[in-house]
Amino acid sequence: MNDRPAVLVTRRLPAAVEARLQRDYAPRLNLDDRIFGADEIIELAAGVIAVIPCHTERLSADVIARLPDSVRAICSFSVGHDHIDLDAARARGIVVTNTPDVLSNATAEIAMLLLLGAARRAHEGARMLRTDTWADWSAIGQLGIEITGKRLGIIGMGRVGQVMARRARGFDMQVHYYNRRRVDPDLEHGAVYHAELDDLLAQSQFLSIHCPATPQTHRLLNAERIARLPDDAVVVNTARGAVVDDDALIAALQSGRLFAAGLDVFNNEPQIDPRYRELDNAFLLPHIGSAARETRDAMGFRALDNLDAIVAGREPRDRLA
Ligand code: DGY
Repeated sequence: MNDRPAVLVTRRLPAAVEARLQRDYAPRLNLDDRIFGADEIIELAAGVIAVIPCHTERLSADVIARLPDSVRAICSFSVGHDHIDLDAARARGIVVTNTPDVLSNATAEIAMLLLLGAARRAHEGARMLRTDTWADWSAIGQLGIEITGKRLGIIGMGRVGQVMARRARGFDMQVHYYNRRRVDPDLEHGAVYHAELDDLLAQSQFLSIHCPATPQTHRLLNAERIARLPDDAVVVNTARGAVVDDDALIAALQSGRLFAAGLDVFNNEPQIDPRYRELDNAFLLPHIGSAARETRDAMGFRALDNLDAIVAGREPRDRLA
């Protein structure tokens, strides 16, 4: 008889992570990697001690209220936790954890890729080659803007924001940031703190969003705030789509008020606002901030370290609730 604890894993995870799950638990794996609906999650969770979701599963207050009593933990394979109702979990005594730190480098890399790609019109150039529409080299064609020496504004100076600040310094960018609180000067990496978001926006030739999606940051980048950015600014988002008002951003890209945007995250993924596809000045990626081999392994192991701690009666390293 298998006396290892049963665990529901809602999506396919990297092979090494699934192997560790098989070794230590009795995992219910999602071999088809399809998205489970709420009823399926509740049904499949019968008898499990923990659920390991990704950000693609919404564990709302209603879903959490209906989870079987056996569920003691939700160990998310993500740093973001806007898909989980923490209050509802607390109310049921379910421990919730996430996977911070291990994806900061990978996410900042994608933010830098978006910054460069949007500023230098990378996807337009790539498309010309792939569609055989590159007429010839031109001294006046395909002109982007340099990022070197420019001002970068960072919204959210947490782990990813701090790595982004360090990477930007490699391009001699002058880094400014807005955060609810000033971070320890050792972690600022020379960045200038702005206590008011509007002051940061006015400085931001480039703006990179790294704050979590919360009720306070919902549609934070709206028309009014975009209007405070300098002309020809470039906006990058690797955080969550909910932080951006799509109507406002799309209007600013259509009018040319903004030079470009680089977006890895969207409202209503994967059914993104189709108007983005029509915009040459939108450099789009499909939520791949953490999609590096080392990173995804590390996220899985971090989620399992948290689960192991909970099962052993120890305090998990990354407790959210
Ligand atoms: C995260 O970890 O929050 C990433 O967005 C992937 O889910």
